[in-house]
Amino acid sequence: MFLVAFFPAVYPPLMAPPANMFDNVPGYEGTVPGGGGFLPPPMPMEPVAPPQPGPEPPDWSISALEENVAREAFKRFASSHCCYSDAPATEGVITSMEPFNTYRYRLETFTESRSTEWAHKPYEGEPADFYTQPAPRPWEVQATPPELFNNHTEKIRVPYTSSIKKSCWVCNGAGVKDGVNCNHCRGTGKDRCSRCDGRGRKECQTCKGKRQLLTYIELKVEKNNVEDHVVEQNPSLKIDDLRSVTGKELFKNSQYLVYPLLGFPNPAVSQASERLVREHQTNYAQNSRILQQRQTVELIPVTKVNYKWKDNTHVYYVYGNEQKVRADDYPATCCCVIL
Ligand SMILES: *[C@@H]1O[C@H](CO)[C@@H](O)[C@H](O)[C@H]1NC(C)=O
Repeated sequence: MFLVAFFPAVYPPLMAPPANMFDNVPGYEGTVPGGGGFLPPPMPMEPVAPPQPGPEPPDWSISALEENVAREAFKRFASSHCCYSDAPATEGVITSMEPFNTYRYRLETFTESRSTEWAHKPYEGEPADFYTQPAPRPWEVQATPPELFNNHTEKIRVPYTSSIKKSCWVCNGAGVKDGVNCNHCRGTGKDRCSRCDGRGRKECQTCKGKRQLLTYIELKVEKNNVEDHVVEQNPSLKIDDLRSVTGKELFKNSQYLVYPLLGFPNPAVSQASERLVREHQTNYAQNSRILQQRQTVELIPVTKVNYKWKDNTHVYYVYGNEQKVRADDYPATCCCVIL
């Protein structure tokens, strides 16, 4: 069988694992070199928390934008486009301003997933502990405590799975790769070759010249934070990217599994919450373990500004705490136009 040929059964006399060692570590059945399928977390999940009361409406208003603030934002917008004339922004007369504040719902799910594979490294005197005790199961291995909502990946050598190959199978324990001459000195070992120290041959890359390999089960622990947004879109609001700005935080809660915001005064937010919570449970509870979820509702300030320039009326929007501007019909977009 390929696997057995790949890892010849030559071990130190201390212990002699069976030839089919890959299937023989309890909890690691099916772990193969270079393989590493995801391991489903042990069931069952904890019960879902009871419904959260909807947030009490505190001060959810956002004070209207002042005219001079809207104008300054518009000037910054014009000057950030190198070809735009700033005349409409400086000379245009604001005729009316309407608030179009809009909700954004965000759900974050922080998960942990684990996978294993047989790995090897140059042998550097590590204890060969294969089978001296039962190996801890994949979800019992201690990993670094999570920093919530931050991605992190680590690789851990599973205790009691390490054994020493008597010799590196790539170079047969020579420490140099058989038949591969050092390119630099073409195998002569002369010409003061520094890359091969004059040996004429390259160091074996697999054992790094150590001649022996340690093989073990490697556990990969990945912690990932995934997030999704839903912005309540007013059809008359032609702004695609309300994701890139911040707003006023109205509600935030974080727990093991969040409960949808059913009681939220705005039904679109409740529906978004219900849908995303369901989607995240379906997508992330299968092959990973959900460690924490967080949901946030923000009110994003948006102001529609109507203004007049050279007898024509135009529109721009100021949005987000950052006061970004969107102006699709900016009337002077080329500086070479003769006004
Ligand atoms: C964290 O990992 C998730 C899933 O792989 C990815 O979608 C997200 O962009 C990552 N976040 C950061 C800040 O890198």
